[in-house]
Amino acid sequence: MSDVWSEGDAAALTRSGEPALVLRVRSSPQPVGTRGVLDLSTELGRAPGGEVEWLGRRYRLVRPSLADLLGTLERGPQIVTPKDAFHLAYLAGAAPGASLAEAGAGSGALTVVLATLVGPAGHITSYDRRPEFLDAARRNVERAGLAGRVEFRLRDVAAEGLEGVGLGGVVLDLPEPWAVARSTRAALAPGGYVATYTPTFNQLERTVRTLRDERFEEVRALELIERPIHVGDGGTRPAFEMLGHTGFLASGRKVD
Ligand SMILES: C[S@@+](CC[C@H](N)C(=O)[O-])C[C@H]1O[C@@H](n2cnc3c(N)ncnc32)[C@H](O)[C@@H]1O
Repeated sequence: MSDVWSEGDAAALTRSGEPALVLRVRSSPQPVGTRGVLDLSTELGRAPGGEVEWLGRRYRLVRPSLADLLGTLERGPQIVTPKDAFHLAYLAGAAPGASLAEAGAGSGALTVVLATLVGPAGHITSYDRRPEFLDAARRNVERAGLAGRVEFRLRDVAAEGLEGVGLGGVVLDLPEPWAVARSTRAALAPGGYVATYTPTFNQLERTVRTLRDERFEEVRALELIERPIHVGDGGTRPAFEMLGHTGFLASGRKVD
């Protein structure tokens, strides 16, 4: 990535006390929701971090962080939370240059995480059986400036299976991961990983049993609990509110 703004770069408009606004650097004025029109054309060729005046207020225009991107996604189906998304990526062997697949694309939150971690030399194939979700995920990935790393495919992977061969990892965030286990194994390179995400114990049990039946090794199952801490002078303690449950993670490796 160049250290100056180019046409179409994803950018975040930040200001103290306000949530970041994620948009693209364009050579012509662009509408920003219902808030008016913003002209960023003079930023082209300049370094990120410059000051932008808009609607009488001063903002900083910076490269968007993953938190900016994930916090402002266009929402469709339930997205995977950051704590689970990054661990799923870890379990699936995401690394710079890796070739991975995921199903389903949903809102594209996990796609944005995976595409960031594999870097410009990596590749993600993202499946969904619903065209409207595939479009929503595509819009979110484009908005994040990661479209060149992701290929979206309309496919019911439970009925038709995963395509491809030689993948480094596969993430399954759909209701019936066991229905995709066999074709996932066929699509993985030796040493490749599968990681699954399901909300109920029943789904987890069936998934793990199927991974074992399909001769995956190093099979693991876990849940991650995130407990926010309220920090006050002399009164630091766990927050009263926390997200009680998100989903269970499972993983396995194709060894032979
Ligand atoms: C919970 S969402 C995925 C959320 C996504 N990981 C994210 O972070 O935004 C589950 C998705 O799986 C898709 N799906 C369910 N069964 C599928 C199948 N058999 N083949 C392909 N996609 C499927 C659904 O259409 C839905 O978009």
